Amino acid sequence: MNFDFTEEQLAVRDAARDFAQNELLPGVIERDENAQFPTEQVKKMGELGFLGMMVDPKYGGGGMDTISYVLAMEEISKVDASTSVVMSVNNSLVCWGLEKYASEAQKQKYLIPLATGQKIGAFCLSEPEAGSDATSQKTTAEDKGDYYLLNGTKNWITNGSSAGYYIVIAQTHKEKGHKGINALIVEKGMEGFIVGKKERKMGIRASDTHSLMFTNVKIPKENRIGEDGFGFKFAMKVLSGGRIGIASQALGIASGSLELSLQYSKERKAFGVEISKHQAIQFKLSEMATNIDAARLLCLRAAYLKDQHKDFTKESAMAKLFASKTAMDASIEAVQIHGGYGYVREYHVERFMRDAKITQIYEGTSEIQNIVIARELLK
Ligand code: CAA
Repeated sequence: MNFDFTEEQLAVRDAARDFAQNELLPGVIERDENAQFPTEQVKKMGELGFLGMMVDPKYGGGGMDTISYVLAMEEISKVDASTSVVMSVNNSLVCWGLEKYASEAQKQKYLIPLATGQKIGAFCLSEPEAGSDATSQKTTAEDKGDYYLLNGTKNWITNGSSAGYYIVIAQTHKEKGHKGINALIVEKGMEGFIVGKKERKMGIRASDTHSLMFTNVKIPKENRIGEDGFGFKFAMKVLSGGRIGIASQALGIASGSLELSLQYSKERKAFGVEISKHQAIQFKLSEMATNIDAARLLCLRAAYLKDQHKDFTKESAMAKLFASKTAMDASIEAVQIHGGYGYVREYHVERFMRDAKITQIYEGTSEIQNIVIARELLK
């Protein structure tokens, strides 16, 4: 067993760290405050290759491994989780799903612009009445011969208005249950497709979360991903990979919380000494660091298995379950360590605490991760 990163992986981590410090840190508080999408920063991420990291270079990607992706996600999320969710959805849910399951023609048309960052992608599964219970899709894709007629509403869609291409999950053969569901590629601007209201969120406020409405949208048959009825399995498989991205996002929020807490506790004095000299603070720091290391190892193990083309369903669920709890706990402790300063906007940690919560909810709640893990254990 080898715990060392390759030079290439370290170079990716350092490039992501530089990008986060130089391009994301300035303005991160204002973008959060104003719920302002990081348009320029995302464009730059595309130019630097962070939006299609694992995609084969022949489709415009970086050809990197999933370990490099985890390292980059951690660095970017340490500073700006609103931007890292754009990166995670585009890399894992959209690009990886297309590269693995789409036809060559779909890859040429859609994957290349998504991997190079010319377009951003969105993954549309959740509905007003289908969140955790993802098989209960009410959006319909009626088979009309050479096209599908798409009708329905999707909710809480990341990159909802900034995306150019959307992977939409919809029911075609209701009587077949989850085996009657399809995944369709929808383009912004198709007649009958409307981007609905922007959500006002607790955290990741600079990310762009919308409802989407489809009314009699004609989707050409060639935009279906995989065989007829493959849509639900496609969504499940893609989400298993996506959970590595969100676990790494949570890891970054947690490690950002620790870094700021270490720095602050060595500067702030109380009762005549730096607060880092008080055992009450030391215990918090040591617990944060231990959980963060464990979360990082879980993320890297899931990434390693994915790179080895082995099953990683259980391991990515474990990584997300543990890392998201670690992010929540570490960010709460970071606010506590910062005291009054932690409760105000300038010190970043209150944003980390608000941002951490979503990692326990999206791409499968912690309760869903427990179900996935238990099912795999009991197989
Ligand atoms: N890989 C491959 N196939 C899978 C799978 C996986 N990980 N998980 C399930 N399946 C297959 C099953 O084998 C089954 O197929 P067969 O009948 O052929 O065996 C089929 O899918 C249905 O599975 P279940 O019977 O287990 O279905 P279920 O209704 O009990 O639910 C669930 C399964 C795991 C709870 C699923 O509904 C689920 O993951 N829910 C959470 C959905 C979710 O993560 N939503 C997040 C929204 S996306 C998002 O947040 C993106 C964003 O913008 C950030």
